[in-house]
Amino acid sequence: MKIAAVVLALAGFALAQSDSDNRPYELLIHKDGPVCSFVSLQKSQIHKDLLSNPNGRISWKTRVPTGENSASDVHHVLSYDKDLLDAHAESLCPLGIGRDLRTSLDIHRYAGSQQVFKQFEHADHDPPSLKYPPLDIEALGDTGPSSNRVDLVFFADGYTTGERDKFFSDAKRLAEDLSSNQTFYTVKPLLNFWGAFTPSKESGIGVGGKPKDTAFGLYRDGPELRGVLANKSDAALAGCASLGDGCDYAIVLGNDPLYGGIGGEYTSITASEANGPLVLRHELGHSIIDVGEEYDGGYAYFGVNAAPSTPSIGWSHWLSDPDAANGPVRAERSVMPLQAYPWTMMKAYEPWKVKFNSSGTYARHLIKFSLSGIPEAKDLDILLDGKHLKWSPKPGIGIDRWHYDIYNDIPLSDGTHEVQFVLKNSDRTTAQLCSVEVLEFGDEKEFVNDPSYYGAFPTFDLDNKTTYRPTYNSCLMRMVTSPDFCSVCLEGLWLSLLARVDLIDSVSASCVPPSWGPDWTRSISLDLLPLAQFREDGQSGKDRGEAYAVTWRKGGVVLEVHANKTALAVPDSAAPGVYTAEVEFMTDEVRKDEKGRLKASKVFVLDHTDSCAAKAARGEL
Ligand SMILES: *[C@@H]1O[C@H](CO)[C@@H](O)[C@H](O)[C@H]1NC(C)=O
Ligand SMILES: *[C@@H]1O[C@H](CO)[C@@H](O)[C@H](O)[C@H]1NC(C)=O
Ligand SMILES: *[C@@H]1O[C@H](CO)[C@@H](O)[C@H](O)[C@H]1NC(C)=O
Ligand SMILES: *[C@@H]1O[C@H](CO)[C@@H](O)[C@H](O)[C@H]1NC(C)=O
Ligand SMILES: *[C@@H]1O[C@H](CO)[C@@H](O)[C@H](O)[C@H]1NC(C)=O
Repeated sequence: MKIAAVVLALAGFALAQSDSDNRPYELLIHKDGPVCSFVSLQKSQIHKDLLSNPNGRISWKTRVPTGENSASDVHHVLSYDKDLLDAHAESLCPLGIGRDLRTSLDIHRYAGSQQVFKQFEHADHDPPSLKYPPLDIEALGDTGPSSNRVDLVFFADGYTTGERDKFFSDAKRLAEDLSSNQTFYTVKPLLNFWGAFTPSKESGIGVGGKPKDTAFGLYRDGPELRGVLANKSDAALAGCASLGDGCDYAIVLGNDPLYGGIGGEYTSITASEANGPLVLRHELGHSIIDVGEEYDGGYAYFGVNAAPSTPSIGWSHWLSDPDAANGPVRAERSVMPLQAYPWTMMKAYEPWKVKFNSSGTYARHLIKFSLSGIPEAKDLDILLDGKHLKWSPKPGIGIDRWHYDIYNDIPLSDGTHEVQFVLKNSDRTTAQLCSVEVLEFGDEKEFVNDPSYYGAFPTFDLDNKTTYRPTYNSCLMRMVTSPDFCSVCLEGLWLSLLARVDLIDSVSASCVPPSWGPDWTRSISLDLLPLAQFREDGQSGKDRGEAYAVTWRKGGVVLEVHANKTALAVPDSAAPGVYTAEVEFMTDEVRKDEKGRLKASKVFVLDHTDSCAAKAARGEL
């Protein structure tokens, strides 16, 4: 069985179906201290690291926020051996498993665009089952087979029965924002987006720490626009688990027009026009590429876009200065003299102020801040050392949250400085100052802020500890208002997705009757992911260097005439043999592929007993 996972034996026409045996089991455990709060075990989709080691297991652990100040450990373990995973679950959860969802669910494949799933039913002797709401599912655009795609599913919170259409239109708007021309656009053929509707009894999400009666119980802790927590967090996890490999990432979408959200094992966001896409892109960057922050003031910096020191950067193949790749990489010269997260409701004419010191040795500086509840420029004065800074709200933002940068091409003097925020309109009762930061930069020679420049830029964490990132501001992991990843993250995105997605969707064989002479023709064809010339939007990706190369071999010998063809046709009588199809995908967006994620191959055997002539003689054709 383990061999079958790699070598696909061609048994007449049955070969496309046997692909499903390729799928391992995935164990998911949430652990809060010693207690396992959530466990699911079910069939998952391939992981290429497991294909090369089919007797092993692979695992990773993340720590995800469960609230503003709490977190839990999430363990993912993949293996072809279910017993091994059962044993693993027992050893990780010595106190037993509170709520268990060992799904042996008969997951209906998506036939048509809409499917209502049955409530999971548990046998009596099992631990109490997790309940998840009934899900009414629609595709949000073109989809491919879930067994070979990364599936992102929007779940509905705070949408009543009458708001079903609003949910699907909000979810579709978000999916399109993320993938129609930016962010995930180039990798879109590897993704499926779905909406999973559950009616809520009440409309909207809770405030002041009180959830409403909604499917997942999303609420804000206070009146301020900050995190959005889920009261029925397990319901979202169970909802996703209930879809098997039809749900790889759950997104709980709250029916609320203003900023809010939180990342984690699933992402919660709101339908805010300005902030919904912004929060979602950034959180999916964390969970799909598995990278930490790039903005200053966070606590986790790791993954392809972060390095603890300049000699250890992992993106030398992207550096703009080719000499730097061989010699020491220069750190761009910058410092962060001030960082504050006030998250404070502002009172009219009571200035919020903060002091900071500058060394006076930097050529330029930047004031960064984010706020909400202030729709007009005249409502707020921002002063640096008593001088007014020019500020205007993002057009159309209303009372929603937004991020602003005020850049000054002049040095700050040596000594103490003060920034002040003064609200000048007492009717603005929801005005909130969220974050304030001051950065200083060297001159153009010491700090290159050209967006296309790749180097080593210092990032300052919560405690002012420095790590390095690839670009000044070209990545949405830093500049949350930007819709795009930098090249380093985008490469990481391809590699992460292609660990779980095979370039070959399926292989099929057929017999073509003889048109003259006695011989049938045997044909074998590959269904490749719709990339490069197979992109379905009519864009071939040529401008990004996208191409597929296909090499066919028989008994190890290259079949030159079939080079780069997705189908092979051979005379039936000469067909028997061992065939290999090797596929390689190329894109300028990936420069380094150490694990061969952009390659795929299938091996199969054609034998005499299954020849077209033999089948015809048996009356099978
Ligand atoms: C993508 O489309 C949106 C809306 O259709 C548009 O506002 C935006 O400018 C486009 N972005 C790019 C990079 O073309
Ligand atoms: C959910 O809300 C109920 C009622 O307000 C509360 O008793 C319960 O502790 C909350 N659970 C979580 C996980 O927030
Ligand atoms: C961070 O460290 C630098 C260098 O020591 C210092 O100049 C700066 O003021 C510090 N920033 C903060 C916010 O502490
Ligand atoms: C600025 O520097 C002065 C003199 O060293 C020090 O007394 C003061 O605490 C510093 N202020 C801040 C905000 O770090
Ligand atoms: C197959 O296509 C790839 C990508 O376009 C190209 O580099 C390669 O030369 C082609 N091979 C042959 C034999 O034509």
